[in-house]
Amino acid sequence: MLDKNVQIFDTTLRDGEQVPGCKLNTEQKLIIAEQLDILGVDIIEAGFPVSSPGDFKSVEAISKIVKHATVCGLTRSVENDIKVAAEALKYAKRARIHTGIGTSDSHIKFKFKSTREDILKRAFDAVSYAKSFVEDVEFYAEDAGRTDNEYLARVCEAAIKAGATVLNIPDTTGYCLPHEYGAKIKYLREHVKGIDNAILSCHCHNDLGLATANSIEGVINGARQIECTINGIGERAGNTALEEVVMILKQHPYLNLETHIKTEMLYGISHLVSDSMGIYTQPNKAIVGANAFAHSSGIHQDGVIKNRETYEIIDPKDVGVTESSIVLTARSGRAALAYRAKNIGYELTKLQLDEIYSNFLVFADKKKEVDDSDIHQIIETSKVYKEIISA
Ligand code: KIV
Ligand code: ZN
Repeated sequence: MLDKNVQIFDTTLRDGEQVPGCKLNTEQKLIIAEQLDILGVDIIEAGFPVSSPGDFKSVEAISKIVKHATVCGLTRSVENDIKVAAEALKYAKRARIHTGIGTSDSHIKFKFKSTREDILKRAFDAVSYAKSFVEDVEFYAEDAGRTDNEYLARVCEAAIKAGATVLNIPDTTGYCLPHEYGAKIKYLREHVKGIDNAILSCHCHNDLGLATANSIEGVINGARQIECTINGIGERAGNTALEEVVMILKQHPYLNLETHIKTEMLYGISHLVSDSMGIYTQPNKAIVGANAFAHSSGIHQDGVIKNRETYEIIDPKDVGVTESSIVLTARSGRAALAYRAKNIGYELTKLQLDEIYSNFLVFADKKKEVDDSDIHQIIETSKVYKEIISA
């Protein structure tokens, strides 16, 4: 029987930080790691220690300050990588080494100029060596999305025999369709000997915009860890967005899957990451975009003012946004104008609203978005101003 808890493995500081032009210094990484720990992620992938002295230093520093989460370091299936990662992680309360190798025919033939049997042995050896340093070893089968399932199952079996506690099944190129990725996880659950001794993990990239959908299909089919980043940042089109998978599981309780994430922190941490990295979040980004809880068309505004749930499936407070916003544009209706005017102290009668609304439309045609000071000005220069303030 599978547990209902889905472990959240955050790789903002490793896969996320691989985004061109967004290098973080150790101090910025420490601030983000501390917030991720408070957010409730189960694992923080802090970096790739052998890749540079700076990365080593960051992983070591993060290991010292994280209180609750497991701290993880990435390696290739190379002894020195593993030794260096173990060294960087030595201060962690809970340490995990994440080692692995490419398993698709394309990786085996062109990247490693090797054979399936050799890769199988290298996978086994890497996990065994990592186990000589730490108990918790995660194995990744890079390009598992394009690896045939039968061979992938053999690699997973070898990793489990060597002591892997987690098997990461990356869709490295973001190629899989959700039903294919889900079927891959199901196949592994049904065909890998000893699978109950390890957790299957989803690591999806967003090249076709399917990272979130694939991760959800993965957990529906038996994976119990999702690897993701804040705002979905990462190589090329990015990784699975943490805030999306967490909120999908929360909003669909019948899936009977849950996480430890304190969702009210999502909006704040999204800003922290985008400000630190200098990477702007698109306004229409699900959950944390500036427009995620903004309503601008008259029909929607009227519906939300009457009952928020008419056009919102998430309470903005649940993700740390104070309230839904009613944005005034030339497409807004009377209900929205009356609502915003009331928020700044004007209670308008129907006739007053009719008068002010026609002035508002003229104003809104000239200015894209009408703000509170504009509303004051429209009301103060209207024929009904005296009447409004003497009421
Ligand atoms: O996308 C990928 O395959 C990876 C692995 C190194 C885990 O990031
Ligand atoms: Zn990746």
